[in-house]
Amino acid sequence: MIRIDSVTKRYPDGTVAVDRLSLEIPDRSITVLVGPSGCGKTTTLRMINRMVEPSEGRILLDGVDIMQQPVNTLRRSMGYVIQNAGLFQHRTIVDNIATVPRMLGWGKDVARSRARELMERVGLDASLAKRYPYQLSGGQQQRVGVARALAADPPVLLMDEPFSAVDPVVRKGLQDELLRIQEELGKTIVFVTHDIDEAVKLGTMVAVMRTGGRLAQFAPPAELLSNPADDFVEDFLGADRGIRRLSFFPSAGLELLTTPIVAVDATAEQIAARGSADVPYLLVTDLDGRPLGWSEPRDLTAGQIEPERLLPYGRPFVAERDSLRAALDGAVLSPTGWAVAVDGEGRAAGVVSQQTIGEAIRGAHAAAPVDAKAGR
Ligand SMILES: Nc1ncnc2c1ncn2[C@@H]1O[C@H](COP(=O)(O)OP(=O)(O)OP(=O)(O)O)[C@@H](O)[C@H]1O
Ligand SMILES: [Mg+2]
Repeated sequence: MIRIDSVTKRYPDGTVAVDRLSLEIPDRSITVLVGPSGCGKTTTLRMINRMVEPSEGRILLDGVDIMQQPVNTLRRSMGYVIQNAGLFQHRTIVDNIATVPRMLGWGKDVARSRARELMERVGLDASLAKRYPYQLSGGQQQRVGVARALAADPPVLLMDEPFSAVDPVVRKGLQDELLRIQEELGKTIVFVTHDIDEAVKLGTMVAVMRTGGRLAQFAPPAELLSNPADDFVEDFLGADRGIRRLSFFPSAGLELLTTPIVAVDATAEQIAARGSADVPYLLVTDLDGRPLGWSEPRDLTAGQIEPERLLPYGRPFVAERDSLRAALDGAVLSPTGWAVAVDGEGRAAGVVSQQTIGEAIRGAHAAAPVDAKAGR
């Protein structure tokens, strides 16, 4: 475990970048440092691998003060990833990734085969191995940066805004990849970002810092969204934290109705039997059970159902897997106010009304109350 114990960093010009910061960074999980520009995130990260030395306080790695450890040994146990990857422009991708193993004296072939293995792990096609960094997209370069940091298999990864320079779609892919890698390899990751959504998505624990290098709150993301410690944290979380908090509640308990679903080849009897007063709409599926759209039962004529005339079904959520936020989103996007749940193959698993989702949300809130301030 990394323990930051009342650490202050005062730069020579008098700037206090970090002010009496204390944090316990748990092993084998992602801890995010988040906060506005200049609040001391990078300084904190760099103190962990001694690129910057604290003015006061101590940082302990597995109980040992990092100042007591040889700096080379310390850095070897910590991969470092920065924005724009910071790759060596004159080296090929495979040799960039093999940098640290080569420095550690591994043979060229062993180091390169390790590099190729890591390319696969971070989702890079093997055909890119011999290219140079300028021949890769920003997102691909960032993956190389992650692979390079992992090359010597360090237990700790320090990541400083690694995904800030890429567009939102690529960024989401990189975040998902990082979560997968974390799950597979169990690294201890300290991740810096100024994006609260990224922090909430990636962090097992999130440290919100404020200008002046002070800790505002250190909590799991669901706790942060439920009970922000003060106005600063609440403002930093943004306006829709209530909705975002729903991401932490599973949709698994929602009662799905399967009655109001008919296939496109439904008979008149089936249409009549499945449409009822409680369910004003029927969901029509294709012959494989994939949703096509909604219709009022009286607008459906057996043998003459035209998929293009159905009402759109919004964005379905995956039953048992997605959160209440996804279910609510599905219902809000659907003109009927009903959300469609699908299985892993995209086949309709059931439908659920906004009202039922609302009841589930109220139930979830009752089980995990939000702070009284939330009402303001
Ligand atoms: N070498 C230095 N000398 C003097 N002041 C510094 C030095 N490096 C950083 N600072 C100051 O320390 C404070 C914290 O800087 P730091 O880089 O840690 O912030 P940050 O949270 O990473 O910001 P950003 O989100 O913009 O990257 C800032 O006020 C910065 O100007
Ligand atoms: Mg920074």
